[in-house]
Amino acid sequence: MNKKILSVFLAFVMVFTAFSPAYAQTAENAWNSYWETADAKAGIIMFPGADDSQRNFSWYSDSESVPEIVLSEKSDMSGSASFSGYSVETYSGNYANKVTVTGLEAGKTYYYRCKTDNYVSSVYSFETDSDDSFTAVYMTDIHVSFDEKNPDSVRDTSYNFDLTLNKALETDDDISLILSAGDQASEGLECEYIGMSASPVVKSIPMATTIGNHDRKGVDYKTFSNMPNEGDHAVSSYVGSDCYFVKNNVLFLVMDSNNASGVDHRNFVKAAVKENPDVDWKVMMFHHDLYGGRIPHRESENALLRILWAPIADEFGIDLVLLGHSHYYTVSNVMYNNKTVATLTNGATVKDPDGTVYMVSGSLNRPRDDEDISLGENVGIEYLTMDKIYNLIDFTEETLTVRSYAIESNVCFSSFTIEKSDADGGHSDRMPPLYNFIIRFIGSVYAVFNNIGVYNDLKDKGYDVNFFELLFG
Ligand SMILES: [Fe+2]
Ligand SMILES: [Fe+2]
Repeated sequence: MNKKILSVFLAFVMVFTAFSPAYAQTAENAWNSYWETADAKAGIIMFPGADDSQRNFSWYSDSESVPEIVLSEKSDMSGSASFSGYSVETYSGNYANKVTVTGLEAGKTYYYRCKTDNYVSSVYSFETDSDDSFTAVYMTDIHVSFDEKNPDSVRDTSYNFDLTLNKALETDDDISLILSAGDQASEGLECEYIGMSASPVVKSIPMATTIGNHDRKGVDYKTFSNMPNEGDHAVSSYVGSDCYFVKNNVLFLVMDSNNASGVDHRNFVKAAVKENPDVDWKVMMFHHDLYGGRIPHRESENALLRILWAPIADEFGIDLVLLGHSHYYTVSNVMYNNKTVATLTNGATVKDPDGTVYMVSGSLNRPRDDEDISLGENVGIEYLTMDKIYNLIDFTEETLTVRSYAIESNVCFSSFTIEKSDADGGHSDRMPPLYNFIIRFIGSVYAVFNNIGVYNDLKDKGYDVNFFELLFG
């Protein structure tokens, strides 16, 4: 009996301390000390590789050298192999080091160090999945923010990202992929990307990033990103690109929605889908919101984006589209041809849907509390909070389940499941209407003119960018 009382008391103490301001203060103090270390300042981040047998690494240094990842299956780094890469000069004159590690086997733990001329990092580890089922965490609009009036702004907004990742790991310590739907940084600055990459979690779990409109406020996303399978486009994206990767049984299409070139995006998706005919799931991720529509002045922009992007999701049978930009949590109904084909409610399972679910999560550092809310007519689930949200996506062969959490309570507030009896599920082979051909073409022409606007904006901010490179890549 006494034992029982003692264990209840200890459990109470643990829960109490975990939620007490003193505990939060200790965690933040630990972050502030860690912030000053060489590893935090190097901004080491692991991106997904082209498939699960690869990982892409990136980190910063102040001199040029041939960077290396030293990899071992032992924590003492014995029997290590070395993979070398290349470095690119960043806009500020530092170097971003890029290395791809290949030949990884399933179900293993690997240990690594990053090496450049004057720098050797601590040893970090990562795991490869042992079977097809896995869990990813999706979040968006991280908005690590440089503010010249607040010298701690990058450190503090980076802490919020690390905190959210750790809350997600408390819920599920088996997460093997991080998905971020754009606006990682508020000003698109190198210091913001280094800050975000300071989190130890992104050194052990690969993080896929998408370019958002805020990432295009500067030029540094271009040297920060090391995503695999970048697309080759007729209309230049300059700082971003479409990319894809395969993780187990899922094809992830990571798109640059700043670029309106519909012709390029459709060609890219068509080729990626053709290359990977055996996947069970197709997930697309890009920044701009389509169906959330909760900010009235953005509705006209959303409407234009819908006629550009939805036909691509329809044509290629995309199961789930992960978005950002609105800073509001919404999940659409099952959509086809811009219309609800099946409603989606909290806790529901949709079986073999003949369409796509579009989801937007809230912003980590810039949550909204606007009174002026107008819900899109196709929204199935919505949740308004000033808290930080993360979403766990469980993939199995037959099911894809999304569970959403706000970190203060860390209790699941919304979930839904897509279930398919085979890889095509209920997706039909209907082709989008012929006029989409014309819309895609208009989008590409618009993208060229939009790039002129981007060039002028960057010039106004004092960036020295090459006009022809920006226009034609
Ligand atoms: Fe944003
Ligand atoms: Fe945005």
